[in-house]
Amino acid sequence: MDLSVIVPTFNEGPNVAELVRRTTHALLGRTIEVIFVDDSTDDTPDVIRAVAAASDIPVRLIHRDNPVGGLGGAVVEGIRAAESDFCVVMDGDLQHPPEVIADMLARAEVGDADVVVASRYVAGGTSDGLANAVRTAVSRASTLLTKAMFPRKLNNCTDPMTGFFLVDRRTLEIETLQPRGFKILLEILARKQMRVVEVPFSFAPRFAGESKASFSQGMRFLVQLTMLRFGRMSAFAVVGGLGALANLAIMWALQAFGVQYLIAAVIASIVTIVANFIALEYLVFADMRAESGLMRHRFIKSFTFNGVEAIIRIPVIWVLVSQAHMPSVIAAALTLIAAFVVRFVFHALVVYAPKKSRVGKAVRAIEPLEDEVTA
Ligand code: GDD
Ligand code: MN
Repeated sequence: MDLSVIVPTFNEGPNVAELVRRTTHALLGRTIEVIFVDDSTDDTPDVIRAVAAASDIPVRLIHRDNPVGGLGGAVVEGIRAAESDFCVVMDGDLQHPPEVIADMLARAEVGDADVVVASRYVAGGTSDGLANAVRTAVSRASTLLTKAMFPRKLNNCTDPMTGFFLVDRRTLEIETLQPRGFKILLEILARKQMRVVEVPFSFAPRFAGESKASFSQGMRFLVQLTMLRFGRMSAFAVVGGLGALANLAIMWALQAFGVQYLIAAVIASIVTIVANFIALEYLVFADMRAESGLMRHRFIKSFTFNGVEAIIRIPVIWVLVSQAHMPSVIAAALTLIAAFVVRFVFHALVVYAPKKSRVGKAVRAIEPLEDEVTA
C-alpha cells in the first residue's frame, strides 16, 4: 500500500461521498485506503458504511465511543491503525483539496523528509477559505506566536496550524504524543526535530456542514502551546519580572540618595535593560546564540525594541484611560501583558533568529534598520 488517508470526522455526513470520490480520482494508479476516525453524534457512521460499500478503494471506519483527545486523539488513532507508513491527515469537509495529496506523496517519495506539510502560507498557497477576517487574523497571529515559541523546530514550516499533512509513521514516537484538541501537527513537530518540507495548497471553503472550531478550542490551543513550550517562555517571563523589580529597587535607592525621580528612572531603565539583555543571552536563549550572528547586533535590536515599546506603550495607556475610561492600573497592566507577548515574539523570531532562516522575512525586514541604527 502506497498511502493511508486519515480523515477525522465529527458530524460530516454530507461530505463523505464527495471526499471519497475526489480522493479516489486524485490518486488513480496508487494503492491507497481511506480511514475515517469518527466521533460523530449523528448518522455519519451509517453514511460512511454506505459509501464504503460502494467504493472502489478500501474505506475503513473507526467509530470511537470514547472520543479521547478530540480531533488530535482521532488522528493518532488513525495513524496507529493505518496499513501504510505514509499517512496523510486531511479534514473531512473538503477544505483540504484531495488533489493536493498527489503532490504530497510525490514529495514524500523523494525520501528527504519526515513530514510533508500542505501550507496555506508558502508561495502558491492561499487561506481564502477561512470563514472571515477575524479567523484569518487569529490564524496569522497564532502562527507567529507558535513559530516564536519553537523557532528551531518550526524553522522550515510556514503553517504549523494546518490540519493537512503527510507523516512517515516510522519517524514518529507515537507513545510520546499527548493530543489535546485541534493542533496535532504542532505537537508532532514540537516533540522532536523533524525534517519538514512543504507543498502549497489553497484552503477551500467548506463543502457542506458547519465548522467545529470554537473559542474553547482556541483556549485549549493556548494551553497546549504553553505546555509544549513551558520552558523558554516562562524563563523569559521570570527574567522580565525580576528586571521590573530591580528597576523599582534602583529607582528607590537613587532617590534615597537625593537623585531627581526622572533621572533616577532613566538610570534604572538603562541598568535593567542591559542586565535583562545579559540574562537573555546566558539564560533564556543561550542555546540559540551561536547561530544568530553577532552579540552587538542582537543588543542593538533588543535595545531598539525596548525604546520603541516604551514610546508606544505610554500613549496607549493614555488612550485606554482617557478614551475607554479604564482605571489606569488596569490599563498599564494590559499594555504590559501585550508588550510581554510582543517582546517575546520579537526576541525569539528576530533577535535570536538563526541566520539564513526561512523565518527570515522578519529578519530581512530588520536588517536594513539595523544597519541604519549601527550607522
Ligand atoms: N474525530 C473527530 N473528533 N473529528 C473532529 C473533532 C473531534 O472531536 N472535531 C472536529 N473534527 C473534524 C471535523 O469533522 C473536520 O473533519 C476536521 O476535524 C476539522 O474541523 P472543522 O470543524 O472543519 O474545523 P476548522 O475548519 O475550523 O479547522 C480546520 O482548519 C484549521 C486551519 O485553519 C482544522 O483542520 C484544523 O486542524 C486546521 O488547523
Ligand atoms: Mn474545516
